[in-house]
Amino acid sequence: PGFPSILRSGLSKLGVPSEILDLLFGFVNAQEEYPKIPEAKGSISAIRSEAFFIPLYELYLTYGGIFRLTFGPKSFLIVSDPSIAKHILKDNPKNYSKGILAEILDFVMGKGLIPADGEIWRVRRRAIVPSLHMKYVGAMINLFGEAADRLCKKLDAAASDGVDVEMESLFSRLTLDIIGKAVFNYDFDSLTNDAGIVEAVYTVLREAEDRSVAPIPVWEIPIWKDISPRQKKVSKALKLINGTLDQLIAICKRMVDEEELQFHEEYMNEQDPSILHFLLASGDDVSSKQLRDDLMTMLIAGHETSAAVLTWTFYLLSKEPRVMAKLQKEVDSVLGDRFPTIEDMKNLKYATRIINESLRLYPQPPVLIRRSLDNDMLGKYPIKKGEDIFISVWNLHRSPELWDDADKFNPERWPLDGPNPNETNQNFRYLPFGGGPRKCVGDIFASYETVVALAMLVRRFDFQIALGAPPVKMTTGATIHTTDGLQMTVTRRMKPPIIPTLEVPEMVVDSSVSFLKDETQ
Ligand code: HEM
Repeated sequence: PGFPSILRSGLSKLGVPSEILDLLFGFVNAQEEYPKIPEAKGSISAIRSEAFFIPLYELYLTYGGIFRLTFGPKSFLIVSDPSIAKHILKDNPKNYSKGILAEILDFVMGKGLIPADGEIWRVRRRAIVPSLHMKYVGAMINLFGEAADRLCKKLDAAASDGVDVEMESLFSRLTLDIIGKAVFNYDFDSLTNDAGIVEAVYTVLREAEDRSVAPIPVWEIPIWKDISPRQKKVSKALKLINGTLDQLIAICKRMVDEEELQFHEEYMNEQDPSILHFLLASGDDVSSKQLRDDLMTMLIAGHETSAAVLTWTFYLLSKEPRVMAKLQKEVDSVLGDRFPTIEDMKNLKYATRIINESLRLYPQPPVLIRRSLDNDMLGKYPIKKGEDIFISVWNLHRSPELWDDADKFNPERWPLDGPNPNETNQNFRYLPFGGGPRKCVGDIFASYETVVALAMLVRRFDFQIALGAPPVKMTTGATIHTTDGLQMTVTRRMKPPIIPTLEVPEMVVDSSVSFLKDETQ
């Protein structure tokens, strides 16, 4: 950009309103030649035919790190460039709202933390972040272990009976059970129970996903809600969930009123360590609708994302027996037969790298959605207020320019003793949890949850894609799903004897070692 636009963006950062800037720079702009954002000629049918981020990847290879995609009157900017992503998420985040995402999710999340913008977001983020303190996460490790153990029992029965299992739905239930307890101390028990509230949660989730990929928002037609059987079912499910949440809030309020505990930074009620309990005990002064919106947001944010990570991790592992064997070796030596503890998290290094790499290849969600609130510069291109923007994390994570063997599942690309990869140390080419002020609040929670589940499962079982299973293909909702499930054959592992040591380097038999010599003499 030329000097005038640098000056303009500097003044804008200092808080000079855009109206004044427009006046000041109007005459300069007329003279300055801006490059135009490349325009991709996409047809909507190509986009709708498969997981939509795949054609976006093809277009990225042709048009580059930022391009415009136009369908009739609507147009979107597709961003796949690390420095532009960083600008939007971290350097100038105040200029971007959640746009379409907030519109789609309004019926279920209202003004919850994911869709909320501006002042409401700021206040709610400030209230919620402290609830996920380290002591809380430590308590959650036990919860992850117990829930994964229940899944192991289910898999053990399947192994005995010689029946294949559909892992995607089991992971969805595992993470629903975990997040229900973690957020509002509710036991969905969905690994064994399928009725009522569990069904309601899935009805609402599927609706949110369908709305996010629907071409026409029919649900906005006023009487549609009352006559469409499907919308009636959604309304009924929402009513049931909201009623349950109101009850849980009331029960929790009573508990908080009766308890003697003093509130402090690492406050936690051992009987009920939930986020809801923390919020109520902190004296969080908020309407019950807002509290419900936030609980619902966390339920959804922390449920399907973690389930999708586990699903794709097991899919990737089924293709790479070498990685699986190395993982099982690590888990045997670090955990033995114990339940994992928070101390184990730093020793399950390879398991963590596998999750890092799975999140690179299958980012959840694959795109981040924003809308510009004012004119801005994206790289060398000026953009106007009101642009809908998709940051394709999929493209960033699979860019041949940014990665060696971008499509290869290679946990070794992340050195075991290196830092845990994140958006900062990877310069925004890697965004598993977003970045900037709207970064995921559950990143550590989710990392530990997926590492614990992974470790507990591979310690007890071997997993193979079931014979005759349909090919595993992708489809999108909010996260990346399989089209026909992940059918696997689970067999009990024949474990080598456990050597209870931590981090032993490869054992090298050295015949010069004296005690060995002594023994053989
Ligand atoms: C936001 C990913 C688990 C709560 C986000 C964002 C990403 C993400 C990419 C940023 C969205 C954006 O910028 O538009 C993930 C992944 C998870 C996971 C991959 C699992 C592996 C969780 C869990 C919780 C959670 C367990 C709750 C305990 C949230 C919330 C936000 C968020 C509340 C919104 C934050 C804000 O806007 O201030 N997550 N998440 N997530 N996540 Fe997660």
